Amino acid sequence: MIPEQPLQDEMIQVTPELTLHAADERFVSELHQLVLKNRHWLQHSLNWPQFVGSEEDSRQNMISNRLLHQRGYAKMFLIVQRETLVGVLSFNSIEPLNKAGYIGYWLDEAHQGQGIISRCLAAFMYYYAQQGEVRRFVIKCRVENERSNQVALRNGFTLEGCLKQAEFLNGHYHDQNIYARIMDEVSD
Ligand SMILES: CC(C)(COP(=O)(O)OP(=O)(O)OC[C@H]1O[C@@H](n2cnc3c(N)ncnc32)[C@H](O)[C@@H]1OP(=O)(O)O)[C@@H](O)C(=O)NCCC(=O)NCCS
Repeated sequence: MIPEQPLQDEMIQVTPELTLHAADERFVSELHQLVLKNRHWLQHSLNWPQFVGSEEDSRQNMISNRLLHQRGYAKMFLIVQRETLVGVLSFNSIEPLNKAGYIGYWLDEAHQGQGIISRCLAAFMYYYAQQGEVRRFVIKCRVENERSNQVALRNGFTLEGCLKQAEFLNGHYHDQNIYARIMDEVSD
């Protein structure tokens, strides 16, 4: 069993204005509102927004994510820019033996185009590579998701292949590109 890590206030400082905060109940209301605001737009690229219900459902979801985070099977970070929640960056899953982490992200639509995800991703990968917890970083995204493919390419990931009809979204199975970047422990 993987030991539980202390989670209280776990954070990654990306820039003076940009911080990643580990999943915590104190973010539930703001996150719920951000999802509702972006729901229709996000539904073009992600399957889950249609299932978001009440704030209480979001609270239960945050509690589950927090537990997975503590146990090391996934990691969920809230992206906070100048005290405003603007998106989420996660390992949707981690394979501890393989030290492989499967990355997911989304931003508030109005906060795209500023390099927020790219900057957060760099700090996030450095943090986990330095700890020796993850060395194979993976991004899987639909071939048609141009912005997400660009995130992978912009951040030094290599296209490893195309998974046929691997992602169910809005009634269809879509081809998915798989990108990876290997980062071994970084010594300061
Ligand atoms: C995917 C998603 C997170 C990408 O957001 P993004 O803002 O384009 O990503 P980045 O942080 O890499 O920003 C890159 C943009 O900022 C600009 N930029 C400004 N400063 C920058 C910097 N310091 N570093 C990198 N890019 C910078 C780039 O020129 C680029 O803009 P452009 O696309 O207009 O040329 C966003 O489109 C999204 O939330 N989509 C919906 C959810 C989704 O698809 N998730 C992924 C599922 S696989």
